[in-house]
This record gives sequence, C-alpha cells and structure tokens, in this order.
Amino acid sequence: MAVPVVLDVDTGVDDACALLLAALHPGLELRAVTCVGGNAPVDAVVTNTLTVLDAAGRDDVVVARGAERPLLEDPVDARHVHGQDGMGDLDWPSSQRRPDPRHAVEVLRDVLLDAAARGGDDLVTLVPLAPLTNIALLLRTYPDVARGLREIVFMGGSAYVGNATASAEFNVFHDPEAAAVVLDACADLGIAVTMYGLDVFYAPLVTRARAAELVASGGHGAPELAGRLITFACDRFGADTATIGDAGAVCAVLAPEGVQREQLPVRVELAGTWSRGRTIVDRRDWTGDLSHDPHGRARSTIDVCLGIDAERYARLWLDTVSGRTS
Ligand code: BDR
Ligand code: CA
Repeated sequence: MAVPVVLDVDTGVDDACALLLAALHPGLELRAVTCVGGNAPVDAVVTNTLTVLDAAGRDDVVVARGAERPLLEDPVDARHVHGQDGMGDLDWPSSQRRPDPRHAVEVLRDVLLDAAARGGDDLVTLVPLAPLTNIALLLRTYPDVARGLREIVFMGGSAYVGNATASAEFNVFHDPEAAAVVLDACADLGIAVTMYGLDVFYAPLVTRARAAELVASGGHGAPELAGRLITFACDRFGADTATIGDAGAVCAVLAPEGVQREQLPVRVELAGTWSRGRTIVDRRDWTGDLSHDPHGRARSTIDVCLGIDAERYARLWLDTVSGRTS
C-alpha cells in the first residue's frame, strides 16, 4: 500500500525536486502540499508549487498557503541561491491554478484528523522541507493531530555543519523558535521524528550530463522540469553535479534503510552570538556520569541521519522523474 504523505515546502529548486518525486512515485500517496515562506516569499512558493504539480500531471493535489514569516525572526529568503522567482528562473509557464482557500495549518489539521479517524495504514508521514513555522503553529494549535501522524521526517539541521551560517542550517536558522517548538511538541505528543540534515543532504548527486538527457525529452513534462532544475543548480554552483537536496528526505520515506540513523538528543540553539539556529546534537555516551552538565539531557530524542546510500537515492529520484518507476 502507498504511504500517505504531506509535504510542507518553500519551493525552492530542491523542494521542486522533492515534489516531483512525491507526486510521481507509486509508493507514495500525496495527500496535500502546504507552503511557507523560506527560500522565497510565500506567494512565490505557492505559484512554484502549483507549477511543479501541474508539470507532474497532479493538479488533483491540494496546495495551501501558510505562514508568510517566521515566528520571531524577520524573513530572509534564499533567492540568491534559488533564483529571483525562487525556482531557478526557468521561464517555465506558471500554473493558473489557485491554492485551496484554507490556511495551510487548517489543511494540515483536516488531513491529519481525517487520517486519525481512519487509523492504521492511513496514518500520515509529514515531510517538512522548509522552515518549520507552519508545523509549529499546527502542533501548538491542534495537538490532537498527533493521532493522525505516523511520523515526521524533516529536512533541516545537522550534527556537524552549517550552510546559512558556519553553524546553522537554513531551515532551522530561518525560524529557530519554530524548530524548537516542533521538537518540544513532538516530545510531548510522542511523535517520532527523523532529522534528514546537512550531514547527508549534499550526498545524492545527479550529473549535468544526465540532466541534459532529461531536458532533451521536452514537452514541458516532469522529466524536462527535473533536468532543468538540476542544470540550474549545476550552473549556480559552477559544478558538473548537483544534489537532489530536499528530495533525499522523500527518499528516506520511500527507502528508510538507505540512511544510517542514530537516536540522539537534539536541541535548537536559540541564543548564541554565532550559533543561533544550530541543532545541538548530543553524541555523548549517556552511560557515563554526566551529572556535572548543567544542561542535562535534551527532552527531545530523535533519529538523526548520519550516513546515506547516496547512489541509491539519486537513482531512485532519477528513475521516478524520468518515468522508469513502476
Ligand atoms: C534547505 O534550505 C533550502 O534552501 C533548501 O530548500 C533546503 O530545504 C537546505 O539547507
Ligand atoms: Ca526547502
């Protein structure tokens, strides 16, 4: 049976790669997509998301507009990475579709309460690939939705490295309070969480040559869009390969054995002169005497992805977006 999923996105070149995979893989049932400001302002995110789903022939999927800005921080987008329109400035025909009239948080509530009522195989895997603003608002406003969740697999944070700053990963850095609220709420509500962070994010690569083959398929379909997204990312970084980025977190739902994970206590740094927005991943062995540590153990223990079968994930993405998955 296909795994029910909901993606929360800030589309975003690599969010677009993730949407194509989730929209096209028969092992997933994409129940809704919710949008949040992050890589680009939320209205651009909504348009980009609808455009990707149209290219994938999935205009049946509900798309909802969510938070415009982080809980506390001023929004600082990443259009210097993702292009002025947030999705590679591909000059691709924009969707004429409108988003759902409900706010993203209301759509998430409705989808998850519906799943809770049905239970069993209907429980939803929520895959946030963006700042966690919508998810923090959801879990604090409607904690009952936990009953409809199988797990949360989010792209964000890292054990060792940063990208937005030397210390912090973009999604968590953009809205650190939201990330802290989500970890806290998940600990309270007993929601299983997997962190697909920068320790694995850059590893699944697609070559420029393979992207060119996808582009050559033409017709403004999913393969061409996939190829053009990867080509943009190669050009942007002057490289012959590009990561599938957020799409790797969707691969982690489809093929969970493709990542090596450890259950570790994690906190979000909310102060810090140079480290605000860093995920503090505690890799100490807690069998020793740590009574001297004034902070104690973080209340949130989650699965942290520390290794990856990158070739497998890149192949899974390529096979799916080029229509070779059955
Ligand atoms: C994350 O930040 C965004 O720019 C990407 O879409 C990804 O979700 C990587 O740090
Ligand atoms: Ca993203």
